[in-house]
Amino acid sequence: MSKSVNVAIIGSGVVGSAFISQLNGLKTAIKYNVVYLAKTSSEALYSSDYQSVDLSSYKTSATKPTLGLDELLKFLQGAKKATILVDNTSNASIADYYPTFIKAGISIATPNKKAFSSDLKTWNEIFANSAVPGAGLVAHEATVGAGLPIIGPLRDLITTGDKVDKIEGIFSGTLSYIFNEFSTTEKSDVKFSDVVKVAKKLGYTEPDPRDDLNGLDVARKVTILARISGFEVESPTSFPVESLIPKELEGIESAAEFLEKLPNYDADIQKIKDEAFAENKTLRFVGQVDFKANKVSVGIGKYPFDHPFSALKGSDNVISIKTERYPNPLIVQGAGAGSEVTAHGVLADTIKIAERIAN
Ligand SMILES: NC(=O)c1ccc[n+]([C@@H]2O[C@H](COP(=O)([O-])OP(=O)(O)OC[C@H]3O[C@@H](n4cnc5c(N)ncnc54)[C@H](OP(=O)(O)O)[C@@H]3O)[C@@H](O)[C@H]2O)c1
Repeated sequence: MSKSVNVAIIGSGVVGSAFISQLNGLKTAIKYNVVYLAKTSSEALYSSDYQSVDLSSYKTSATKPTLGLDELLKFLQGAKKATILVDNTSNASIADYYPTFIKAGISIATPNKKAFSSDLKTWNEIFANSAVPGAGLVAHEATVGAGLPIIGPLRDLITTGDKVDKIEGIFSGTLSYIFNEFSTTEKSDVKFSDVVKVAKKLGYTEPDPRDDLNGLDVARKVTILARISGFEVESPTSFPVESLIPKELEGIESAAEFLEKLPNYDADIQKIKDEAFAENKTLRFVGQVDFKANKVSVGIGKYPFDHPFSALKGSDNVISIKTERYPNPLIVQGAGAGSEVTAHGVLADTIKIAERIAN
């Protein structure tokens, strides 16, 4: 008889719907029995006898109210079957519940950064719970660089005894686009505020671009990579994070007013760009974990024209990992956001877990 595993999916937004479609098209020996699918925070598909949800018609099927997390845990445990919970939301309450799921033997695959980049206590709890025999496994490749192979290879290096010297990267697709356009290897007078406006128009930014410009999303990703490589980062606000929001514009209420006033501050960042250009360097917004300097940081860095970061195009992410074994850094580059690439990262994690726990 072929092996099978139960799957519970939460969320069917940008990533969730691509994940469902990829899972539906999967052809593997293991059978994935989707026993629960919460389309949104209010609508879910499931049946008391654990019949598999039909993923080809989930959009139009009749729904029931979403189960609370305690109820969901009870429901999943009632199946007495190896189970993977796939959290395709950015919900903090679901993330806070991971240690409980894992302790109860339910594995987690997710692109949700919240649990891994908040306080160190939660991180330690998740991985301590997961190490106990019979506990659930946890995989979160898509929390950094979407589907790019970053977390898996980094963990492999560490567990086989390599030592990280420095991790450096461009982890925000939005800030990648903004700096790739603003600071080029050719002389250009393009204004920072204009690039931010275009990025918003193209849908690259959050509805309020300050949510990208504050650097916190990058800080969360850097927190995750620092912890994997052995740097005990307390939280994403416990190290220096350079915000690109002028101090005077932090308190402004609307995004529209912020964008209107941003040109008043163009001269400041233009000066930094011009100084870099005079040294044959570009500006990039980077996150760094530097073991030699014993420092984790996020902010603007200057890179020579022939450095791989200067050659970046569009909204790609790039990460450079320098270790004892790779003194010439290992470099991974590619799309760091988008429904299909993120969903493939989550699905690959789901498959890896299933290969270990399906029965
Ligand atoms: N989009 C990308 O390119 C990308 C890249 C890397 C990582 N990620 C991560 O992937 C995750 C999902 O991102 P997304 O872009 O797909 O977001 P999204 O389009 O906003 O989708 C989130 C979905 O989760 C649902 N949801 C929220 N809370 C829920 C709950 N308690 N129970 C059930 N469903 C709930 C939402 O439904 P409601 O309408 O009810 O809220 C919505 O359907 C996030 O953690 C994000 O950071 C995304």
